[in-house]
Amino acid sequence: MVIEKFITEKEIEEKVTELANRINKDYRDSEKLIIVGLLKGSLPFMADLIRKLELPVFIDFMTVSSYGEDTVSSREVKILKDMDENIMGYDVLIVEDIIDTGLTLRKIVEILKNRDPKSLKLCTFLSKPARREVADLKVEYIGYEIPDEFVIGYGLDYAGRYRHLSYIGIMKGDEAN
Ligand code: IMP
Ligand code: MG
Repeated sequence: MVIEKFITEKEIEEKVTELANRINKDYRDSEKLIIVGLLKGSLPFMADLIRKLELPVFIDFMTVSSYGEDTVSSREVKILKDMDENIMGYDVLIVEDIIDTGLTLRKIVEILKNRDPKSLKLCTFLSKPARREVADLKVEYIGYEIPDEFVIGYGLDYAGRYRHLSYIGIMKGDEAN
């Protein structure tokens, strides 16, 4: 297996700064902003992002089930760990590592909207527009739009591994090669 460097640590840092600057500006008048990271993939991005925020934010996490690529029937999204906070009246910003089909975030938006947040917006480090199956998903903050390649690192995994890489790479070949 060969990992081809795709987005460097320096490029990641610059992009996170850019996103954080926008968030700082957009939420400067917010009284209760909560950043909700989707585990496990959002961990490095979330940690970098919140340290660049100059707002008194709350943070929380959710874990949702992921589904296999090949099993269309199992593509329902379930909450495995819900957040701790009651978000009623909060400005909620969901942080995700990557949006692929958009099914995960569509479901989360549907669930969280029912909890009466003041506002609900999405932030993702990566997005693969070519793979989108959900047409009406509005994503306010996107780090990079990338082509349809399988990427790893900076929170993104292949079969649970490689999340720790400080850069984002493209996997070439499978583990056997
Ligand atoms: P969606 O519901 O198809 O948008 O799924 C998004 C989730 O799929 C992400 O949170 C990742 O866990 C996973 N995913 C999608 N594309 C990749 C990739 O290229 N590398 C690693 N994980 C990915
Ligand atoms: Mg994920």
